[in-house]
Amino acid sequence: MSKKKVLVTKRVYPEAVEFLRGKFEVDYEGTNAGLTTEELIARSRGCQAVVSQLTDRLSADVIARLEGVQVIANVAVGYDNIDVPAATAAGIAVTNTPGVLTETTADFAFTLLMATARRIPEAHAFVHSGEWKTWLIDLLAGQDIYGATLGLVGLGRIGAAVARRARGFGMNIIYCDAQAAPAEVERELGAKRVEMAELLKTADFVSLHVPLTPETRHLIGAAELKQMKPTAVLINTARGPVVDEAALADALEQKTIWAAGLDVFEAEPKVCEKLLTLPNAVLAPHIASASVGTRRRMSMMAAENAAAALEGARPANLLNPEVCK
Ligand code: GLV
Repeated sequence: MSKKKVLVTKRVYPEAVEFLRGKFEVDYEGTNAGLTTEELIARSRGCQAVVSQLTDRLSADVIARLEGVQVIANVAVGYDNIDVPAATAAGIAVTNTPGVLTETTADFAFTLLMATARRIPEAHAFVHSGEWKTWLIDLLAGQDIYGATLGLVGLGRIGAAVARRARGFGMNIIYCDAQAAPAEVERELGAKRVEMAELLKTADFVSLHVPLTPETRHLIGAAELKQMKPTAVLINTARGPVVDEAALADALEQKTIWAAGLDVFEAEPKVCEKLLTLPNAVLAPHIASASVGTRRRMSMMAAENAAAALEGARPANLLNPEVCK
């Protein structure tokens, strides 16, 4: 019997490819550019699994053209790049990589929060520029973190991990989520559930931890930014389109809010021109889960999910169990 075949659309950590090669034939696109949509469709012919990344747009149209594919294993916890209902209708299993990146992503959300509040990129550039002449009472004065109120939009795995870090900084934690966390989790985190309007009005830091769905697209727009304090800091490590980037750039320019720390953007890798000119926008290139260990684990987890599906087992991180009867 001929071996099953896996398409890996873009460079991953090598152990994941080695693992797959031990079991299957592998068509590995080991480049940084990855595949165009047309190339992905063409190269998927004859493959039963696709190991994809969040830069692969697997819309309903694309999925309809994936002949013979049984599983799409995304190397990410987020899967807004895949039309899961379309995959389900086509009988294709879809998997993601939850859990392994929770702490790394929470570390980064907190890093971004601190760097933004305390103006680290500006301070670094200032020292390098040679402009530093003396100690000044208000030189690069930032916002306090200790004792401030953190508003978490979404208290899932990552939101809760950020809350645990915030506790160590004596922060007051409020959150909003469609679903209330169990009482013992609220107690452990010292987190109080509030309405979105109250969170926006009272939080010193608003940190976003929701998946991108039709309901969360532009969850933070001009109206929401207006409700925030002029001293407030917005942190986004979720997905770019959760924030209306143009409205945010205006708010930062007009100082409606104080600053923003962003790891994700609406049209990555493009960034709204205005944001690039604003010192109160601290920007990172979608690296919240990028520790070597975590990105290695994500690569392996996706490979293991693909392998399980091809071997007739239920993948550990199956998003559409309806396809596996
Ligand atoms: C990264 O953004 C991920 O969803 O894993």
